[in-house]
Amino acid sequence: MRGGPFRLDGAVAVVTGAFGKLGPMWAGALLDAGACVMGLDHPDQKPGEVFLALQKRYGAERLLPATADVRNRAELEQACDLCQKTFDVPSILVNNAGIDQPPDQPGGGYRLEDIPLEVNRQVFEVNTLGLFLVSQVFGRAMVKAGRGSIINIGSLYASVAPDSRFYDHIPSDPPFLKPPAYGASKAAVVNLTRYLATLWASKGIRVNTLSPGGVLGGQDDDFKRKFCARVPMGRMATEEDLRGPLLFLASDQSSYVTGTELVVDGGFTAW
Ligand SMILES: NC(=O)c1ccc[n+]([C@@H]2O[C@H](COP(=O)([O-])OP(=O)(O)OC[C@H]3O[C@@H](n4cnc5c(N)ncnc54)[C@H](O)[C@@H]3O)[C@@H](O)[C@H]2O)c1
Repeated sequence: MRGGPFRLDGAVAVVTGAFGKLGPMWAGALLDAGACVMGLDHPDQKPGEVFLALQKRYGAERLLPATADVRNRAELEQACDLCQKTFDVPSILVNNAGIDQPPDQPGGGYRLEDIPLEVNRQVFEVNTLGLFLVSQVFGRAMVKAGRGSIINIGSLYASVAPDSRFYDHIPSDPPFLKPPAYGASKAAVVNLTRYLATLWASKGIRVNTLSPGGVLGGQDDDFKRKFCARVPMGRMATEEDLRGPLLFLASDQSSYVTGTELVVDGGFTAW
């Protein structure tokens, strides 16, 4: 396992979107480094195999599953209380919950001109406003405790627009479009990160964005070929590539790092 020097023994971490694809990887990295983790996800979402395997491995004393909609303040307050009763005030918050629309998801395709306001609104509500609400609720407890590291999961599409040619082999009418609100919602996260970082710097809270590039996981071969041709390192990110950067931002090894965006994209946005 990479990321070995970043120990977090005794720390309490909260990961939102913990039952999704990347959530269990962030939770696993924090657990491996010695932290206790509350894995939070939407009440309708069930933990998948990888999360269940973590529960089996670390037990209830280290990994606590919990539910809250990131758009629901009352549910988040309850989750924050539960975390404090079970473990302690968290010192690490990974704001990972997010929505996107993968090309294999049926329905919901629109021409740019026809995208309903409601569809755009949902993306911003979860990816930007939900992240802000989670930061308000858990951040308040962290500010009271006088320490903490908040890591907001951004995306390479916070910096660049998606290349629609990555998807032009997909038979779809209208042609598949990565939701335009997605990158905009993530760009907003990068700037919200700066706001929170500067406001809470004097309270002992660091706030940074970790922006992954495309993460390998079930994409079709044509997409992978086209995407990888655009990456200077010639490949997609693996989950292993993301663990070290997360632990760096979570640990005291980054004690003078705040308000920044750590882009982990194999050079995609440098080209
Ligand atoms: N996978 C990638 O290639 C990639 C690349 C760059 C950035 N990201 C970002 O990483 C994060 C995780 O992505 P993923 O690929 O694991 O996606 P995912 O869809 O597998 O997981 C997202 C999780 O967020 C949860 N969620 C959604 N709406 C919620 C709500 N209202 N309240 C609480 N939880 C909610 C979902 O239930 C899900 O478990 C996202 O923020 C995504 O934008 C992913």
